[in-house]
Amino acid sequence: MDTNALAVFKLLVVGILVNSWMTRGLSATENINVESIPRRPSVALCNETQLLWEMEVCGEEFKRKMDHVDPQNWCNLTHFISEYHLFSLCTETNAGRINCYWPNPLVESYIIRIHKHFFSNCTLERVILVDPPDDTLTILILIPVFLTLAMIALVVWCSKRSDILA
Ligand SMILES: *[C@@H]1O[C@H](CO)[C@@H](O)[C@H](O)[C@H]1NC(C)=O
Ligand SMILES: *[C@@H]1O[C@H](CO)[C@@H](O)[C@H](O)[C@H]1NC(C)=O
Ligand SMILES: *[C@@H]1O[C@H](CO)[C@@H](O)[C@H](O)[C@H]1NC(C)=O
Repeated sequence: MDTNALAVFKLLVVGILVNSWMTRGLSATENINVESIPRRPSVALCNETQLLWEMEVCGEEFKRKMDHVDPQNWCNLTHFISEYHLFSLCTETNAGRINCYWPNPLVESYIIRIHKHFFSNCTLERVILVDPPDDTLTILILIPVFLTLAMIALVVWCSKRSDILA
């Protein structure tokens, strides 16, 4: 992978990490509100066989969508950024559903495998020519971050409200 694609990948990973930290912050907030319920040991419950299977489901869906994209455009982010975002969202949702932390090393190695499959031939020249999708990309990364922020605000607001009502 060349530097440009790598930069984009790093940006995505940063977005993913920020989002997961905030989600963890949110669950911490929830734990304060519901003190009587002990924290679920999510790590211990994560079934890696099942997690890998869930990742395959997301990956297959992404591959199916990429089939509709001309391989000539596989290095052009504008053509598949929304599919990529859905794939990333799918891995997050499915990992969460089966009580696995997200991101985790297993998910990351799966995502890197997908990257190798589709983007290994992307050369620097081809990526440089790509229409800069930075705005779209930034927006797509920021949406989950802002949604998380909004949820935190809602939880805080609700707990304050119940304090007043109580
Ligand atoms: C993990 O999931 C797989 C497939 O759903 C299942 O066969 C296996 O028994 C599970 N393992 C544990 C430890 O729950
Ligand atoms: C990369 O190039 C090789 C050799 O031309 C080709 O066999 C392979 O299918 C290509 N892979 C992708 C993802 O385009
Ligand atoms: C990438 O896709 C966009 C939208 O179709 C197009 O405008 C742009 O010219 C493409 N860039 C390359 C390098 O193919």
